[in-house]
Amino acid sequence: MSNEIKNICCIGAGYVGGPTMSVIADKCSKINVNVVDKNSERIALWNSQNLESLPIYEPGLDKIIERCRGENLTFSTKIQENISSADIIFISVNTPTKTKGIGAGQASDLKWVEACAREVAKFANGHTIVVEKSTLPVKTAEVIKNILEASQPNSNERKKTFAVLSNPEFLSEGSAIRDLEEPDRVLIGGENNDAIMALSNIYRNWIPKEKILHTNIWSSELSKLTANAFLAQRISSINSISALCESTGADVREVSRAIGLDSRIGSKFLDSGPGFGGSCFKKDILNLVYLSRFFDLHAVADFWEGVVKLNTWHQHRLSKLIIQNLFGTISGKKICVLGFAFKANTNDTRESASINICKDLLEEGAFLSIHDPKVSEEQIQKDLKIESLKSNINSNEIVDFFNFEGKWIYENSIYKAVESSDAVVVLTEWEEYTKINWEAVSKTMRKPSWIFDARSILDKKQIIKNDLFLWRIGDGNK
Ligand code: NAD
Ligand code: UGA
Repeated sequence: MSNEIKNICCIGAGYVGGPTMSVIADKCSKINVNVVDKNSERIALWNSQNLESLPIYEPGLDKIIERCRGENLTFSTKIQENISSADIIFISVNTPTKTKGIGAGQASDLKWVEACAREVAKFANGHTIVVEKSTLPVKTAEVIKNILEASQPNSNERKKTFAVLSNPEFLSEGSAIRDLEEPDRVLIGGENNDAIMALSNIYRNWIPKEKILHTNIWSSELSKLTANAFLAQRISSINSISALCESTGADVREVSRAIGLDSRIGSKFLDSGPGFGGSCFKKDILNLVYLSRFFDLHAVADFWEGVVKLNTWHQHRLSKLIIQNLFGTISGKKICVLGFAFKANTNDTRESASINICKDLLEEGAFLSIHDPKVSEEQIQKDLKIESLKSNINSNEIVDFFNFEGKWIYENSIYKAVESSDAVVVLTEWEEYTKINWEAVSKTMRKPSWIFDARSILDKKQIIKNDLFLWRIGDGNK
């Protein structure tokens, strides 16, 4: 069998499929990379002439799309056609937590992966390498293999053959292109040596050999869940310490620095914040919890479940703190929320801490003005499940906020969002929030005015100097 790959098909044009395939196309000019998705609206956005309309925002992605789209990179809904012509197929579809049935609330819903496997089984030709790019529970490769193997054509037709590999993705949103261009490692799990070499050779176009790891397929699947669980665990650990810092007079930034200099601990992923968000940490840990319970490893399950519980507790802790500092009531008060994305440099809001915190504040009767440089009003509306007051209402003219209890407005301008508010809450670490002119802000806020810096990105001195009260995550210096 030849190891040479000419045609790639990726099923799923999402936060992983889109950037991953764009980088492969950019680095491998001789390979045709075809990304397919059943969502025609999403595909239309991937094909938009205006690169600002791409369905996901990732620094550097637009330049790659400009270079490769229409050359060796396509986005389409032609699923059948592209499966048929592919030498290798990446399954990069969503694997959210199940909402009903056995394992609801913990296990991953594999219906989209299974649907893909069935489509591949039906339309593939000759020999095809099938790669799990989605994050999957351990042993999913077996399910995929079973579906593929059950698909053999009648005896007079040419036999189809498949090799299944696991190749989990470790990119982070907001730095996806850099992560893909210079990954810490590429992990390939599987048994079929030819298939492993064929996939490795694609990555070898830009990644050094020593960074491409080969493992058995189950280790590869489990490593992905474990990596996310360890990263999320660090955030829950430091967030738990931030609460202790606030009670004891310690400062979490100093603690992070002091422990991070220990080379065994390391300095990354020690920034206390409003709690981890994103589509994967919670989902992948819950998956690990489900798997552990399935194998009767309840102590293991409880250990990891604690990471998620701490995160939820921490988010509500922040909401309570805001309310307490505003004299125990926020009913009829205007609070400006800066940042709705789950982290900076992405327009993704999945599991964003902003969702829980905004919901808490709205429930307590606050009127919120929400700003985010990349998240749309429609997206926030979907997440909060409350319609916004339409943007044509001038929130500065709304003198009596009691008429707007539990309502919110979307603002494009930070300074407009802040006007007349009792408090500003920074929930996403967008760089533009670090450049706010606090002197100007202070003049337009209602007094006493509070700034809640849940990301610890603001200039403390500037805020205090301008007659504003500051609460900072993990800052026990009263
Ligand atoms: P996503 O929801 O953004 O994209 C998935 C896409 O798959 C959607 O556009 C959907 O329409 C499409 N799809 C679903 N079923 C299909 C089918 N049968 N045929 C064609 N298209 C289909 O998801 P995502 O964030 O890209 O995540 C994909 C997988 O990658 C998940 O398993 C996730 O855990 C994993 N992952 C995500 C990230 C991340 O940063 N988002 C990082 C690493 C791994
Ligand atoms: C994470 C992992 O970092 C990726 O390796 C993995 O591929 C991906 O999940 C996935 O499987 O989906 P991502 O969720 O995009 O990537 O972003 P992270 O940078 O990990 O941040 C996750 C959350 O933790 C964010 O809400 C972020 O603000 C928060 N965080 C991160 C902190 O609160 N403190 C930190 O020190 C780091």
